[in-house]
Amino acid sequence: MLKLVVCVSGGGTNLQAIIDRIADGTISNTKIVRVISNNPGVKALDRAAAAGIEGVCISPRDYADRALFNEALLSGIREADPDLVVLAGFMVAIPPAIIEAFPNRIINIHPALIPSFCGKGFYGLRVHEGVLKRGVKVTGATVHFVDEGLDSGPIILQKAVEVRDGDTPEILQRRVMEEAEWVIMPRAIDLIARGRIEIVGRTTRILPEDK
Ligand code: GAR
Repeated sequence: MLKLVVCVSGGGTNLQAIIDRIADGTISNTKIVRVISNNPGVKALDRAAAAGIEGVCISPRDYADRALFNEALLSGIREADPDLVVLAGFMVAIPPAIIEAFPNRIINIHPALIPSFCGKGFYGLRVHEGVLKRGVKVTGATVHFVDEGLDSGPIILQKAVEVRDGDTPEILQRRVMEEAEWVIMPRAIDLIARGRIEIVGRTTRILPEDK
């Protein structure tokens, strides 16, 4: 059984997709053991509660400095003893101590086709604003392992999404979520649960299914 800690910051639609795909069996042999939010009172915590999953808020506002917050975050993850940490719309820079504690065991969803529209300043709606400003015709989403860099770890899955005339950042964000994020995040977790992702340097390989 793959035990997940899912880290969230807001709406939690990716968390919901994971909950729903575990419930309907699309994601096999997996359980969410804890949801951690850095913001109090967010919808993602309501979604966890509704699914009977423990939800914890670890907010930087409750700690004197960033180092203490980072320690609390690491403890909050460790206590739940996960096999995999899933960043599902988690708007916090993951400190090196957490990456060292969970090498190749943290994954993130990014709402663009990495290496485009990623890195510093590209998160949430800003990604889609950047996409529209540049006028690219295709965007998408990426699930990747988290390493010391920003959006730089081995890519697991990507899915392309069309940019259409008249798109606003909000309309495009919704399409990227529906057509890509809510599909590839559950799929990546299932592949990991089945032991089908092999990391090869900066890349990954999807291993064939056991017959
Ligand atoms: C999602 O679009 C996710 O890809 C993005 O934030 C949104 C969270 O939505 N993440 C990032 O930008 C991380 N760099 P959700 O809370 O409804 O899942």
